[in-house]
Amino acid sequence: MKITAFGVNKEEKYYFEKLAQTKNFELVQTPEWVTADNIELAAGSDAISTMQTGAYDEPLFKKMADLQIPLLALRNVGTDNIDFAAARKYNIQISNVPSYSPATIAEFVVMTMLRLLRKTKEMDRAIEAGQLVSAQKMTGRTLRDETVGVIGTGHIGFTTAELLHNMGAKIIAFDAFPKKDAPDWLQYVDSLEDLLKQVSLVTLHVPGLKENDHLLNADRLALLPQDAIVVNTGRGNLIDTDALIAELQTKHLAGAGIDTFEYEADIEREIQSGEQPQESHYLALQEMDNVIITPHIAYHSMKAVENMVGISVDNIFSYVEQGTTINPVK
Ligand code: NAD
Ligand code: COI
Repeated sequence: MKITAFGVNKEEKYYFEKLAQTKNFELVQTPEWVTADNIELAAGSDAISTMQTGAYDEPLFKKMADLQIPLLALRNVGTDNIDFAAARKYNIQISNVPSYSPATIAEFVVMTMLRLLRKTKEMDRAIEAGQLVSAQKMTGRTLRDETVGVIGTGHIGFTTAELLHNMGAKIIAFDAFPKKDAPDWLQYVDSLEDLLKQVSLVTLHVPGLKENDHLLNADRLALLPQDAIVVNTGRGNLIDTDALIAELQTKHLAGAGIDTFEYEADIEREIQSGEQPQESHYLALQEMDNVIITPHIAYHSMKAVENMVGISVDNIFSYVEQGTTINPVK
C-alpha cells in the first residue's frame, strides 16, 4: 500500500514514520498543502492523507481521478473547505477524524476564557514594557460566577461545557440537535437569541459550513449583555468580524478570544510569503488589550496529533481492505 501525506508537520512526521514501519506501507510525505498543482507527487498512491484550512476544489478532485487516487483521508474534523459536489462528480471518497481529542480544544477554550477574565494580555504587555500595573487596574472575574453559552454541543462543545461546569460555571446551550441524554446541568434553550440574552461568555462549536456564515452577526452580538466575552475556536466565518470589532470598540463587549479567524487564508498567505500580517481586521483586533488571537492552534496537542495521524491511516486501510472508510464524510 502507498500513502502520500500532505501538510505534514514535525510532530505528525514522527507518527507517520512509526506507523509506516509497524503497518508496513510505502509513505511519501510533504509539508506542502495539497492542490491540483502538486498532487502528482501522490501518483501511484492508494490514498492521500491531508490536513489544511486551504480549499479542496474541483481541479484537485479532477486530477485525483486522472491519477486514479480514490480517497482523500482528512486528519482533522472540519469539512467546510471541501467542494463536495466536485468530489462526487469525480467519485472521490472523503473521510475525516471526527473525534481526535475534544479535550485538547476544550482545555484551550477554558484557558482562553481565563486569560480574558483575568486580563492577562494587558498585564503581560505592561510588564514587558517595564511597568508594574496596579492590581486595581486588573480586577478580574471568576469563572464560577459566569454563565457560559455553548453553541453546538457535539464532541467539542459538550466536552467544553463539561469542563466549565466542573469549574463552577452555569451552562446554557443551544444546538440544532440537542443531546437526548443531556445531564441536568446542561440547560438547553430553544433559540440562539434566547441563549445570547442570558450569558456572560459565549463559545462557538458548530461547523463553518456556508449556512453558518455570520451566525454571530451584528444583530445577534447586540443581544449579548454588557461586558460579555466571545470565544471562537469553531471557524472564522461564524462571526461577522466587522460587527465584532464595532462591539469591542464601543466597549459593549469586554473581550474576545479568536483561534479561528474570518480572514485566516489572507493571513496565512502573508505569513507564507515571509511578511508580517497586514490584514486590517487582524491588525485592529491584535492591537486591542482585551482580544487574544491564536493561530488556529486549539487542536494541537501530542495526543491529538497521534490520533489524527493514526485514525486517518486506519480510514485508508479500511478503504483498501474493505472498500469503505470508518469515518466517511458525505
Ligand atoms: P460535532 O459535529 O461533534 O458537533 C457540532 C454540533 O453543532 C452538532 O451537535 C450540530 O448539531 C451543531 N450545529 C451545527 N450547526 C448548528 C447551528 N447552526 N445551530 C446550532 N447547532 C448547530 O463537531 P465537533 O467535533 O464538536 O467540532 C465542531 C467544530 O470545531 C468543527 O466543525 C471545526 O470547525 C471546529 N474545530 C476547530 C478546531 C481548532 O483547532 N480550532 C479543532 C477541531 C475542530
Ligand atoms: C479541525 O480539526 O477541524 C481543525 O480545525 C484543525 C485544523 C488544523 C484544520
